[in-house]
Amino acid sequence: MTPPHPETLEQANRHFQKTFAGLHAEKAIICGSGWSGVTDQLKVIKTLSFSEIPGLGSPGVVGHRGELALCELAGEKVWIFKGRRHFYEGEGWTPIAIPIYLCAKNGVKELLLTNSAGAVNPGFAVGDLMIITDHFNAMGDNPLVGEHQEIWGPRFPDLSHTYGAAGQTKIATAARSADVSLQQGVYFATRGPVYETPAEVRAWKTLGADAVGMSTVPEAILAHAAGIQVSGISCMTNFAAGISPHPLSHEEVTETTAKTMPKMQALLRAWIEIS
Ligand code: HPA
Repeated sequence: MTPPHPETLEQANRHFQKTFAGLHAEKAIICGSGWSGVTDQLKVIKTLSFSEIPGLGSPGVVGHRGELALCELAGEKVWIFKGRRHFYEGEGWTPIAIPIYLCAKNGVKELLLTNSAGAVNPGFAVGDLMIITDHFNAMGDNPLVGEHQEIWGPRFPDLSHTYGAAGQTKIATAARSADVSLQQGVYFATRGPVYETPAEVRAWKTLGADAVGMSTVPEAILAHAAGIQVSGISCMTNFAAGISPHPLSHEEVTETTAKTMPKMQALLRAWIEIS
């Protein structure tokens, strides 16, 4: 599908740099479904609506606010992308690549990706948070297909340590200091927008999936390729199809997200505070 468009990425970057001239942060967080509220306890320095950033556009999903905020906590500054664009929205890779491009071009060293996911691992409970240790790309596409662009590193990026040990340790340290317990496992990404069939979930479980969702993997690939330290946290908003006793719905996802918000807020605050 349509690779990230270099000129649009640059236009977005020019607008970003004009808006945030003189402002700087080395950390960034991309908030998945419903997680935009994690910034409610942070000092907001400046915001920019996604819709004003050329090529980014507004997320078409309930629970995704569509705003970039530069925030501060205990002297640590962080870019918070409240909401994300998804491949299933059908606009190609450019809107998904823009936040990563902005990070890569403006000195971000650590990126934390959050998402909502269906639990595949039977040892997990709804509301659990999981450190992503690795991923499985079942989207049937990849944001790096197409003409090679230097910003994304080598033509054939190595993904052996996409979610590196340092990033995972940092999340574990933050979780201890926030008194939040964590699971860990492999995140399996599908293209969506349909939830999976029970047969698919059974198959992916045998392939090593602990959780399944429709995001994060493209951003992780791009950011890792661009040399940014990537970490990921999934919230188990439901059991995956065939494991869940009832049909899946976005309402269940947003309900669990709301209930889990205090835990996620505490974890992200602790993550931001660790320099
Ligand atoms: N499957 C895919 N994506 C999801 C799920 C799920 O069960 N829950 C939240 N996002």
